[in-house]
Amino acid sequence: MATQQPATRPANPRFSSGPCAKPPTFDVTKLADAALGRSHRAAVGKDKLKAAIEGTREVLGIPADYRIGIVPASDTGAVEMALWSLLGQRKVEMLAWESFGSGWVTDVVKQLKLDAEVKTADYGQIVDLASVDFNNDVVFTWNGTTAGVRVPNGDWIADDRIGLTICDATSAAFAMDLPWDKLDVTTFSWQKVLGGEAAHGMLILSPRAVERLESYTPAWPLPKIFRLTKGGKLIEGIFTGATINTPSMLAVEDYLFALDWARSVGGLQGLIARANANAQAVFDFCFENNWIANLAEDEATRSNTSVCVKFTDARIQDGAAFAKAVAKRLEAENIALDIGAYRDAPAGLRIWCGGTVETTDIQAMLPWLAWAYEAEINAQTVAA
Ligand SMILES: Cc1ncc(COP(=O)(O)O)c(C=O)c1O
Repeated sequence: MATQQPATRPANPRFSSGPCAKPPTFDVTKLADAALGRSHRAAVGKDKLKAAIEGTREVLGIPADYRIGIVPASDTGAVEMALWSLLGQRKVEMLAWESFGSGWVTDVVKQLKLDAEVKTADYGQIVDLASVDFNNDVVFTWNGTTAGVRVPNGDWIADDRIGLTICDATSAAFAMDLPWDKLDVTTFSWQKVLGGEAAHGMLILSPRAVERLESYTPAWPLPKIFRLTKGGKLIEGIFTGATINTPSMLAVEDYLFALDWARSVGGLQGLIARANANAQAVFDFCFENNWIANLAEDEATRSNTSVCVKFTDARIQDGAAFAKAVAKRLEAENIALDIGAYRDAPAGLRIWCGGTVETTDIQAMLPWLAWAYEAEINAQTVAA
């Protein structure tokens, strides 16, 4: 017998982990001031690119002596630019506990063929952070988007490190406190926590990272799209808005809008509070229902953005099919879009809780998740 549908629906069913929901006040008319059909090197374009960089610095609290660049190819572009430009001088330690971190391992081990110590953990767990040797360059993902597992903080990163830390923070920036003094390279993309458009990535370099760039030349060739130095000196223009190649000025306008919205909700601390409230609603739901659990085993590592959950009901016969059917049912009802677990992750759901999502929408969605779960349990029983 089908259970009754809840009375309240989320106003916005968008819970995708990327591209993420636009800020609640977004509509396309807000982009009317975009410098469209103009050169990005004209004053109007350059001013907007510079505002995107300095707005990022202001909202994220990035130190004045860190460089911030807008780069091509989204977060992937920013990470790979860092790996190809900086690595090779010393041993590398790669930390991975989900799909994207594993992708960076493939880059370093199979493509760059570097001497790397690879530390991995299964989905739901995290590597032993206390074992990291900071004489090495260390590459890690702050928040593993496909596992919903994040590093708890930056305390495990040595202040007196010799190597560089390279951090993919794409689903962490604007939702979690990032300790800039511990991070030499940080990357994220516009399409994540602020709900911006895809295509562009941000590359944030500490003075130590710049020093490496200016004192070390990798043994391999670098395509123009990855080149951060010229004649042994940093190309400063990249970090003031003179992008390597042509950016989308529509995406830039959209990012400027998102930054303004971020300021309007209290900046970084406001965004963190919104993500925490969203994630807490899902955590509470898991606590109250014995058929669903957070994939992240250790509470301290639970993401407040890409919250991953698994079904734990022993009656479920085919976990992957069950989770897909629940997600499909919620999508068909226009209650929750794009919440199926990532293709390489264990069966389950992934509910985006970043600050652009309204807590009232999470709260309205969760009873529907219970409804869809019960409906699928019933459907499975009828089919058996
Ligand atoms: C941790 C992480 N790294 C990298 C990426 C790739 O990002 P992009 O598609 O913006 O390059 C994602 C996308 O979800 C991600 O979550």
